[in-house]
Amino acid sequence: MEERLYLYPLLLSFLVLVAHSHDVPAIFIFGDSIFDAGNNQFIKNCTARADFLPYGLNYFHRPTGRFTNGRTVADFIAESLDIKMQIPYLQVQMEILNGSRKDYPSNGVNFASAGSGVLRATNRDMEVISLQMQLRQFQALIEQNQVNKKLVQKSLFFLESGSNDIFNYFLPLEPQELDPRSYVQSMLAEIRHFLNQTHRLGARRIALFSLGPVGCVPARALLPRAPLHKCFGRMNKMVKDFNSGLEDIVMDFPNKYPGAVGVYGAVYDVVQLFRAIPARYGFLNVTSACCGDDGPLGGSLQCGKKGYKICGNPNQFLFWDYFHPSEHAYKLISKALWAGKRSQIRPLNLKTLSHLNRG
Ligand SMILES: *[C@@H]1O[C@H](CO)[C@@H](O)[C@H](O)[C@H]1NC(C)=O
Ligand SMILES: *[C@@H]1O[C@H](CO)[C@@H](O)[C@H](O)[C@H]1NC(C)=O
Ligand SMILES: *[C@@H]1O[C@H](CO)[C@@H](O)[C@H](O)[C@H]1NC(C)=O
Ligand SMILES: *[C@@H]1O[C@H](CO)[C@@H](O)[C@H](O)[C@H]1NC(C)=O
Repeated sequence: MEERLYLYPLLLSFLVLVAHSHDVPAIFIFGDSIFDAGNNQFIKNCTARADFLPYGLNYFHRPTGRFTNGRTVADFIAESLDIKMQIPYLQVQMEILNGSRKDYPSNGVNFASAGSGVLRATNRDMEVISLQMQLRQFQALIEQNQVNKKLVQKSLFFLESGSNDIFNYFLPLEPQELDPRSYVQSMLAEIRHFLNQTHRLGARRIALFSLGPVGCVPARALLPRAPLHKCFGRMNKMVKDFNSGLEDIVMDFPNKYPGAVGVYGAVYDVVQLFRAIPARYGFLNVTSACCGDDGPLGGSLQCGKKGYKICGNPNQFLFWDYFHPSEHAYKLISKALWAGKRSQIRPLNLKTLSHLNRG
């Protein structure tokens, strides 16, 4: 009895900690087309776009610039936090310039740009916004006091980038100077630089999401040396090396970034489970694009481009188009990230990260 009483204060303070409702007012989102909510449509000559139908078909019923048939993982997490979806940075800028908006939104901003990578050169010719430029855009907001520093400290920070760097490594017309290992190391150096800067600018709750199995995307049909009947093993090997470097960075967070909490979302493993047991997750097809051409995997043509075909039920497909998951897949991934177990996101899930009472 005595001993149990001793435990009570500890237990109670723990319960208070987890029962406290979250106070995450905002999300700041960085990365590529997995997260892009429409930034690229505000760049005049940008060629990585999804601002035409049937993108957006099954939720927004209009194109928003998102590269899927509905909401993205970032959108679903915003819903879980009970805050509004983050709008594209370039949309905010445009609205402030044309006088239809006065202040930056208090629920965060989406900086992600489809086609971009963690390396500056990746798809530069498509006029995408590199991760480094996304960081500079965020930095300008902080330095010009456009967003409150207290708000930034309570916010979630999301980063997902690297698929385009690794996919492009296998493009036939770009001979690579680096071997796969050095290439991945150069990518991880950019991630560390990004984290140093966002931490310096006030980020305290940071989620790094692993890449999915990029070697399994239908767009591998575009690569002359990729197999079609199975995933592209050499590409997935690089992805796994990158992901494991990312997880090491997160494990090192307490030493490197005092006061910040980092989590690693194991999206790769979550998606591999969908591929292994499709029926359990409501998928009928985990290999081909729902929307694309009628060649192998539907992977040689972007959805919505002249001559495209679309399946009857997009949410029965893992892949909406040649590179991107369907909204159904994103919804399942976001569930795993929000409240999942350690095999899905660690050391904390996003729900616990959001409820941490950081005083
Ligand atoms: C877009 O491309 C056109 C034609 O190449 C060029 O004249 C124009 O300056 C470009 N616009 C921007 C904003 O880069
Ligand atoms: C301002 O820009 C936004 C975003 O491009 C647009 O939706 C809106 O219609 C514009 N408003 C005015 C008054 O021009
Ligand atoms: C990040 O900051 C740490 C010190 O806080 C430093 O040792 C490291 O070199 C920096 N890394 C990069 C890539 O800027
Ligand atoms: C997936 O869908 C594609 C395109 O509709 C089709 O060709 C393929 O046979 C399907 N695969 C499976 C396993 O059902």
